[in-house]
Amino acid sequence: MTLLTLNDTCSIGARAMDDQHGILMDTLNEITQAVDRGRGREEISELLDRLIEFTRMHFWSEERLMEQSGFSGLAEHRAEHHRMLAHMLHSAHRVQYGERVFIPPLLCSLRESYLEHIAGPDQEYGPWLNEHGVR
Ligand SMILES: [Fe+2]
Ligand SMILES: [Fe+2]
Repeated sequence: MTLLTLNDTCSIGARAMDDQHGILMDTLNEITQAVDRGRGREEISELLDRLIEFTRMHFWSEERLMEQSGFSGLAEHRAEHHRMLAHMLHSAHRVQYGERVFIPPLLCSLRESYLEHIAGPDQEYGPWLNEHGVR
C-alpha cells in the first residue's frame, strides 16, 4: 500500500490542526508498513489503539476551537467525528478479536475515511478559524 502524504490541498490553514493531521498520517503510515510487513495482530492492535487515542485528542482540539470561535457547523462536524470514532473502534475490535480477519481492506477503509474527512469537512472550518484569529 502506498504511504500517505499531507499535501497542500489538505492543509486547512490553522497550524496546530495541520500538525495534528500530519501526525495522524504518520501513524496511519506506520500501521500500513506494519501490515505490509506481515506483523502480527497484537502489534497492529497496539498501533490502532495509539491512532484512536490520538484521534480522540485531535477531534477534541478541533471541536474546542470551533466552539470557541462560534463555528455554526460544529454540531454536524461533531456528529461526523462520532461516526468516524465508531468506525475505528469497530475496526480495532475486529482486528483484536475477530476470526479470520483480513486486515488490508479494513485499513484501506480507515485510510479513506481520514483522507475524506480532512479533504472534506475539515476544510470548511479552516477559513472560519483564520477569520477569527487562529492561524
Ligand atoms: Fe481533523
Ligand atoms: Fe474534523
